[in-house]
Amino acid sequence: TNPSLLILPGDGIGQEVMAEVRKVIDWIGAKRDVTFDVSEDLVGGAAYDEHGVPLADETMAKAQEVDAVLLGAVGGPQYDDLDFSVKPERGLLRLRKEMDLFANLRPAQCFDALADFSSLKKDIVSGLDIMIVRELTSGVYFGEPRGISEVDGQRVGVNTQRYTEAEIERGARAAFELAMKRDKRLCSMEKANVMESGILWRDVVTEVSKDYPEVELSHMYADNGAMQLVRAPKQFDVIYTDNLFGDILSDCAAMLTGSLGMLPSASLGAPMENGRPKAMYEPVHGSAPDIAGEGKANPCACILSFAMALRYSFDMGAEADRLEAAVEKVLADGVRTGDLLNEAGVKPATTSEMGNAVIAALDAS
Ligand code: NAI
Ligand code: MG
Repeated sequence: TNPSLLILPGDGIGQEVMAEVRKVIDWIGAKRDVTFDVSEDLVGGAAYDEHGVPLADETMAKAQEVDAVLLGAVGGPQYDDLDFSVKPERGLLRLRKEMDLFANLRPAQCFDALADFSSLKKDIVSGLDIMIVRELTSGVYFGEPRGISEVDGQRVGVNTQRYTEAEIERGARAAFELAMKRDKRLCSMEKANVMESGILWRDVVTEVSKDYPEVELSHMYADNGAMQLVRAPKQFDVIYTDNLFGDILSDCAAMLTGSLGMLPSASLGAPMENGRPKAMYEPVHGSAPDIAGEGKANPCACILSFAMALRYSFDMGAEADRLEAAVEKVLADGVRTGDLLNEAGVKPATTSEMGNAVIAALDAS
């Protein structure tokens, strides 16, 4: 059966960048012996306008069936005053929750042509290609008890870091599977020196590693991990860490490589019957109402999210490499949307010019 993909462009620039991904999908369909069964539907404000809810039940059901969901972005000022129960973000949250997407993947990849945009020196980031896997559905953001209460005449705020073995294990398996498709190195980060959950984390990850003898496992305290990410990020391949540390470390790693318009992401869940994990791919950026409708959006984050889908959902690693190389070539040739330009007077490429340049680079590769 053909690989199946549900496209949810969403709102604002989500629709503009997704149009460019469509070109890439068509290109692969035409040039390769693979046809994607692509369906498209509404999410976020666009779904609210049509159905009165940010994600229709039929759309949710479709998302559960396909091999991968590719989402643009949701939200916009016209929806800011809606009741929380129907806000555009709720569409996204419903997808994540009902698909039970517990592993959030955030790559940090340095395109040499953009090394000037990094917060670090070029030789530290040049060639960088790491992947942070953040546990997304448990930990201190969800643990009970939580709340603010009055104790001994003063207010006390409480959150609880809590992880079960099963939660640590399923994320670890996702991380080891990824490592197998990459450079077969995994660094697990926690604070086993001061946290019980960290001790358990280290123990469970070590146990899971026995099923992946080819993957070289190391452990690091998360605070040292933050230092190492800035000092020498190329030492890492895959990093597996909890919800809180992962939130911070992945934002930090993202800035090693530059613009929001370049950052893809994925969220994975449990393996389906066909062995593929439940998966949703999306750019890190939002709907960018400040530039929406003007053809200024950088489509690369969304295109690179599709490259992740090729690699991690469709076992098309070679095509993913080729697509990433095409993006790199376009940047090196100087075709850039406004977010990737710092010289005044240089004419920025439009969203569709950037997408067309990627297609031309694919043709030439
Ligand atoms: P944003 O990511 O939409 O925009 C932040 C800044 O980066 C803006 O100046 C924007 O023009 C720029 N930018 C973002 N993506 C770009 C791209 N591909 N090319 C060029 N420039 C780009 O975040 P913001 O402004 O905080 O939120 C705007 C709306 O998006 C809100 O409604 C928010 O709730 C929603 N949002 C949705 C997300 C999602 O769907 N996953 C994530 C973040 C925000
Ligand atoms: Mg964050």
